[in-house]
Amino acid sequence: MKVALRTLAGVALLLSLPVMHGQATPHKPRHVTPDHPVLAIQDTETTAQRDARMQWWREARFGMFIHWGLYSIPAGVWNGKPVLGIGEWIMNNGSIPVADYEALTPKFNPTGFSAHDIVALAKSAGMKYIVITAKHHDGFAMFDSKANSFNIVDATPFKRDPLRELADECRKQGIKLGFYYSQDQDWTAPGGAALKTNNHDLPNHHWDPAQDGDFDAYLHTKAIPQIKELLTNYGEFPSILWFDTPTPDMTGPRAAEIVALLNQHPNLVWNNRLGGGYKGDTETPEQTIPPQGYPGRDWESCMTINRTWGFVSYDKMFKSTETLLRNLIDISSKGGNYLLNVGPDANGIIPAPEADRLRQMGAWLAVNGEAIYNTQPTLFGAEDGAYSETVKDAQGKPTFVPAWNWRSTTRPDKIYIEIFNWPPDGAFHLDKVPRTVSGAYLLGDPAHKPLKVATTAAGVDIQLPNHALDPIATVLVLMTPSASQQ
Ligand code: GLC
Repeated sequence: MKVALRTLAGVALLLSLPVMHGQATPHKPRHVTPDHPVLAIQDTETTAQRDARMQWWREARFGMFIHWGLYSIPAGVWNGKPVLGIGEWIMNNGSIPVADYEALTPKFNPTGFSAHDIVALAKSAGMKYIVITAKHHDGFAMFDSKANSFNIVDATPFKRDPLRELADECRKQGIKLGFYYSQDQDWTAPGGAALKTNNHDLPNHHWDPAQDGDFDAYLHTKAIPQIKELLTNYGEFPSILWFDTPTPDMTGPRAAEIVALLNQHPNLVWNNRLGGGYKGDTETPEQTIPPQGYPGRDWESCMTINRTWGFVSYDKMFKSTETLLRNLIDISSKGGNYLLNVGPDANGIIPAPEADRLRQMGAWLAVNGEAIYNTQPTLFGAEDGAYSETVKDAQGKPTFVPAWNWRSTTRPDKIYIEIFNWPPDGAFHLDKVPRTVSGAYLLGDPAHKPLKVATTAAGVDIQLPNHALDPIATVLVLMTPSASQQ
């Protein structure tokens, strides 16, 4: 009897497991998290299987985030008044009634939208993947959804599916495509969740009775059917599902229903924002770069070029190309990915200041990409900066003071030093180099002219030319042939 029960339990477990990758390996799953009603792929796959699944994503390092939707029409202004806050939150920040917000649809006809141009821009920027908002918190679907008619094909004069056009172009141009989906927050669907702003009070932080309803009804009639559509209607895409703002509504059992869907797509990479106790694949620090990254976890810092994700007509606070590139280098040196956002306007055009900066980043990567893509984190660490003895943050913890002289990334036989602050006399010193340096050159020097290298007990000294090749970052390559190559 007991044996029968055990095999029954065994069979049940097998049935709920995600489709295993490739060959059956003897390796035990990395770990099993008992409190997951449905085991996710992260709970069952072996380290080798995970490494295979995450490989493209880890090598990519740099992606484009696209926040685009109905909110691109008001662009931060409602009834002639600016609504402060990030553009895609205008409905919540402005307490805009559902009917008034839905009345935007007849005005949404972005004929300037070109999937070809957007994918080509991402490619010219050196980005390897794109994540676009399929549905944001406002509940409007930027794709052809049979599950709900509040979408760009059924409700607007545009009548085209930008996700399909992007999928076709990404396939053509060799870029991976992912979808952002607001699984909990939905400010137009009855029962959808809402995070609090203004005086939007409990029990559900709604500001219009039309938003009231049952969360399970919202989940089963809109969110889950739409996630199914996104997972099945775009060929091999999405490569990534990017969830956001999990709320207490997303309990373990509810999240498990979504995980059961995700398990049917074993190559999918999904983030840590589903909720219900599921950690997903990637940590997602927002608008910040963690001082030491997330050792042992895959992570992706998502950031705006100005201060908003969705287009806001008066937000001209665009970061410099220098800041954006040094962020990418800093993040890569800590083993993370950079998901950099663009906010197309109501006509589907990416603002020129954003496009220009991306092209300039691409120009640098065209010369120095070897020091970014498919590299490992720094072997040093002190170059990042240090925790201040005196300055404390709001929680009273020492604040981290970053240093911006140089960063480092690594390959098995090379160490890359991305120099921001060029030493006045060209003399560059490294205290402790954990490998034997057999030679050095500048990556941006087509001739790779050998530089003078001196290794002493005090460290390694490299004589650089007097001037940097690139004021934003010049890459010094230290050749460190492994023992077998020497
Ligand atoms: C936050 C914002 C959301 C944005 C996301 C991007 O969660 O609420 O609007 O899409 O960050 O990371």
